[in-house]
This record gives sequence, structure tokens and C-alpha cells, in this order.
Amino acid sequence: MEETELFLLLFSAISVAILMWRAMKRERKFQKVPPGRMGWPFVGETLAYLKPHPSTSMGEFMEQHISRYGKIFVSNLFGEPTIVSADLGLNKFILQNEGKLFESSYPKSIEGILGKWSMLVLVGDMHRNMRILSLNFMSNTKLRVHLLHEIEKHTLLVLGAWREKQVFSAKEEAKKFTFNLMAENIVSMKPGKPETESLKREYITFMKGVISAPINLPGTSYRRALQSRKTILGVLEMKMEEKKMRTNGREPEIEEEEDFLGWVMKQSDLSSEQILDLILSLLFAGHETSTVAITMAMYFLDGCPRAIEQLQEEHMGIAREKREKGESSGLNWEDYKRMEFTHSVINETLRLGNVVQFVHRKALCNVQFKGYDIPRGWKVLPVFAAVHLDPLNHHKPHHFNPWRWQDSNNSSNFMPFGGGPRLCAGADLAKLEMAIFIHHLVLNFTWEVTEPDIPTAFPFIDFPKGLPITVHRLSSNTTSTILERETTATGS
Ligand code: HEM
Ligand SMILES: *[C@@H]1O[C@H](CO)[C@@H](O)[C@H](O)[C@H]1NC(C)=O
Ligand SMILES: *[C@@H]1O[C@H](CO)[C@@H](O)[C@H](O)[C@H]1NC(C)=O
Ligand SMILES: *[C@@H]1O[C@H](CO)[C@@H](O)[C@H](O)[C@H]1NC(C)=O
Ligand SMILES: *[C@@H]1O[C@H](CO)[C@@H](O)[C@H](O)[C@H]1NC(C)=O
Ligand SMILES: *[C@@H]1O[C@H](CO)[C@@H](O)[C@H](O)[C@H]1NC(C)=O
Repeated sequence: MEETELFLLLFSAISVAILMWRAMKRERKFQKVPPGRMGWPFVGETLAYLKPHPSTSMGEFMEQHISRYGKIFVSNLFGEPTIVSADLGLNKFILQNEGKLFESSYPKSIEGILGKWSMLVLVGDMHRNMRILSLNFMSNTKLRVHLLHEIEKHTLLVLGAWREKQVFSAKEEAKKFTFNLMAENIVSMKPGKPETESLKREYITFMKGVISAPINLPGTSYRRALQSRKTILGVLEMKMEEKKMRTNGREPEIEEEEDFLGWVMKQSDLSSEQILDLILSLLFAGHETSTVAITMAMYFLDGCPRAIEQLQEEHMGIAREKREKGESSGLNWEDYKRMEFTHSVINETLRLGNVVQFVHRKALCNVQFKGYDIPRGWKVLPVFAAVHLDPLNHHKPHHFNPWRWQDSNNSSNFMPFGGGPRLCAGADLAKLEMAIFIHHLVLNFTWEVTEPDIPTAFPFIDFPKGLPITVHRLSSNTTSTILERETTATGS
């Protein structure tokens, strides 16, 4: 771009921003918008809002604003006037009224990378269609009869390669597990094959773009991610072509377990472009978040030996009973349902870890809530993390305490998967993944974190060092000691 062009562009952007800012100030006079401040024109308070902080805290920005203005306040974020909500009631109200009073509204940069047909950015009927397709892939029946075994298979594949006293990144291992699972079930790509490995690497570059500033200039993360998007689409397109050739081909092949791509191609009337965006974003949504969630579980458990002991007891009990019944076919749905304490650990991990800190919405009309006006067109950010870490909702919120879930009937103040018509389509799958992974993990290994590393909100969550751990294989001697402990505990 010419220098003068760049200057003109910058100049007009700033003028527009100042005009918008003035308009916003004027508008506020006539309405009772929540308290807060707009900060600088255009950038507003975005930089302060995005400042990295431990994901187990709500961050300085939220803490300061909440103490100054209350749980609902106004700010200027991502270049738009924004209502930020740390209020449980408002968060629920926003999510439940999707498509009526509010609507998903992600920054343009996300659309550039995930694609205009990705579920995160779609609204209305098209969103509903795609959602129904995705829910079908992860339906309860599919989970019970097919995905559970797939999850166990991929868990064993990863854990089976661990060696005594080996030091490695827990996050990398978790990613192998979740990515292999998704790649095999969505596009039939087998673990360990070069094409699978290179796709996994491509997604790392891709991820960096999703979260970076949307500056499309040579050398930026955003530019590289756009390139990655093309590469990934290329791979997926090839998979699609292969399938078309096979179905048009001479003889129908032996019935094999159909992957999601094949099913969507048959069942829906989506265009190729739409299918590609759907598959690309499902692969993405399906491994980034659950990788972090599993890594977090290992991180929190490392600091809570009592919880590990109780997990070992629970899972050894399940394993022993299966042995006694002569079942050798791997875990089934009944076993999963028996993992009660494990479910408490999963909930507590998601509450304290805050894998998704907040979501992006905008108001479709002027909305009133608790005496405040939310003007039409304004951005609205329900911040789940702030609710999860609020002492009024959760006693001693900064403590990892899985036992808090045992006799509580108020899990309604907990929404790690969002809610309403856009509730995470993979919520049940993610919980199943975590539970099965934990089952084999605590049965066979102990681990310790070898270098301090904390889950950090950038605002996407990452372990900067990948959480380095050392593992120790439990000998059958240790196993029998634990079994004995469990037998005496339940026997007395
Ligand atoms: C612990 C892991 C996970 C967490 C914390 C999580 C969280 C979320 C959240 C908060 C949303 C809502 C976004 C919004 O409202 O704007 C969402 C949406 C979604 N998630 Fe997950 N997710 C997880 C795992 C998964 C997995 C394993 C899949 C499987 C493919 C998945 C697929 C999706 C899809 C397709 C959507 C879009 C739903 C829609 O718009 O209707 N997620 N997730
Ligand atoms: C875990 O230990 C059990 C026996 O205690 C064994 O059958 C299983 O293969 C082990 N799994 C892994 C991943 O090492
Ligand atoms: C975990 O949270 C969910 C709500 O997301 C709740 O339905 C479930 O009962 C909780 N599990 C436990 C063990 O408390
Ligand atoms: C349930 O609510 C009470 C009080 O509001 C809180 O002390 C407790 O920690 C909550 N339990 C859970 C699991 O959120
Ligand atoms: C559930 O919680 C409500 C208020 O939060 C309380 O009145 C009720 O007794 C609780 N029920 C049980 C079974 O704990
Ligand atoms: C297991 O325990 C027995 C006796 O308690 C001991 O003789 C044996 O060496 C132990 N084996 C291992 C592998 O530690």
C-alpha cells in the first residue's frame, strides 16, 4: 500500500472513531446505561481488558471495574460501545434470549479465519441447520455406542506410550488425544500418519491467528493463519473429493464406520464451501478447548493429592468390578455414570479453570435489565469467569474443591459451556473425554508438575510452557495397596 493511502485510511478511521465516540456520549445522556467509562476513542479499554491474567482469576480489569461500577458496567471494547456483565442473572438472560433480544456477534477477524459459514459466527436459520447437524454427530446415542469406545482407544494410545520418569508437556499429550479423536471421527485421518501430524501442526498456526490482532500484513500471525486456513481447507477438500470418487466409483465398498464428513455430504444440502467451513471449525472447536480442560485437570489435581486418592479409589472400584464380572470389553456407559466423584472434579476444573472466559453478543433492540438500558446495536459480553469466581456464588471461589459439588443443588450458577440456543454442542463429548482420560490416567500413573506453569487467559487459555510433567507408572504393587485401602474403606 502507498504511504499516503495508508495515512488517509488511518486518518479516516480516527475521524470515524471520534464521531462514534461523540455519538455514544450523546446517546448516554438520554438513557440510563450502566456506569463505566469509554476510555480512548477507538481502542477504548480494549488493551486493559485483554491483559493476560491467570485464568483462575477474573483479572485486574474485571476486579477494578466491578469494585468501582458494580457487576454490570459499560466500556469501549474491540472498537465498540460494550456492556460487560459479571452478573449471573444478566448472563443467563442474554444467552436465553439469543435470536430475540441478543445475537452472537464475534469480531470480524474471527470470521476471516473460521470462515463465514462457521457456527460461531452464523446466526438464524443457517446456524440452526448447522447446529442440528453437529448435535447429530455428538448425539447421546452416538456417544454411548460409538464415541465412548473411540475415546478409550485414543486415550490408551496416548497413555500407552508414556515411559517411567519421562518428562513431557501435558498439554501436548492432551492435544494428541483430542486431536486424534476428532481427526479420526470427523475426516477418518488416522493417528500418527504424516497427513494427520501436519494438519495438527497447521492448527497451531491457525489458533495463533484466531487470537491475534487482525492485521493482514506480511509476517503477522493473522496473515499466517489465513494461509493456514487455506492449507487446512485444501486438505479437507481433498478428503471430500476422495469420498465423492468412492461413492461414484465402481462398486460400493464394504460398509465401514462412516465419518462425520461423509455423513454430512450425504445427509445435508449444504454447498461444498459450507461443509468445508463446518468441518474446519468443528475440528477446531473440538480439540482446542478440551485439550486445555484436560491439561487443567492435571494441573489442579497435582495440587490436590486428596482428590487424586479419591479418584483412584473410584476408578479402581470400577475396574475391579468389571474384572469380577468378567467384563473385558472396555468401559461402557454404566461405568461412566458411576464416575461420580470424577464428575465433581470435572465441574470444579471447569469452574475454576474457565476455559472460555466470555462470549461475544450484541443487543438486537433496546433492552432493559435491572433498571439499566442496553441500547440497540451495542456489544454485550457475558463474562462467565467473573460469575464462577464470585464468592457470592461459590464459597471460597479460588480454592480447587471438588467436594463442593457433592451436596450442592445450585449448579445453575455455573455455565462453562455457555447456554441457551448456542450451548456448546460438544459439552457432553468434552465431559466424556475428560472422564475416560482421567480413568486410565489415575489407574496407571502418578505425575508431578516439574516447572511452575499456570493457565493464563490471553484471553484464550494457554499454559505458556505447555505444563511440563514427570510421570511415574504405578506398579501392580501400588495398585494393590490402593485397592486394599479401598476395600477396607468400603468394607468398614
Ligand atoms: C471443555 C471443553 C469445551 C468448552 C469449555 C466449550 C465451551 C463452549 C462455549 C462456551 C460455547 C458457546 C460459544 C458462544 O455462545 O458463543 C461453545 C460452542 C460450541 N462448542 Fe464447545 N466447548 C468445549 C468443547 C467442545 C467440543 C469437544 C466440541 C466438539 C466438536 C465443541 C463444539 C462446539 C460447537 C460446535 C459450538 C457452537 C455451538 C453453537 O453455536 O450452536 N466444543 N463451546
Ligand atoms: C493400566 O494398567 C492396567 C492394569 O493395571 C493395564 O491393563 C493397562 O493396560 C494399563 N494402561 C496403560 C495405558 O498403561
Ligand atoms: C456438574 O454441573 C452440571 C451443570 O453444568 C450439573 O448438572 C451436574 O449435576 C454437576 N455435577 C456434579 C457432580 O455436581
Ligand atoms: C452453592 O451456593 C452457595 C451459596 O450461594 C455457595 O456457598 C456454594 O459454594 C455453591 N456451590 C456450588 C457448587 O457452586
Ligand atoms: C436447594 O437450594 C435451595 C436454595 O438455594 C434450598 O432452599 C433448598 O433447601 C436446597 N435443596 C436441597 C435438597 O439442598
Ligand atoms: C511387590 O511387593 C512384594 C512384597 O510386598 C515384593 O516382594 C516385590 O518385590 C514387589 N514388587 C515390585 C515390583 O515392587
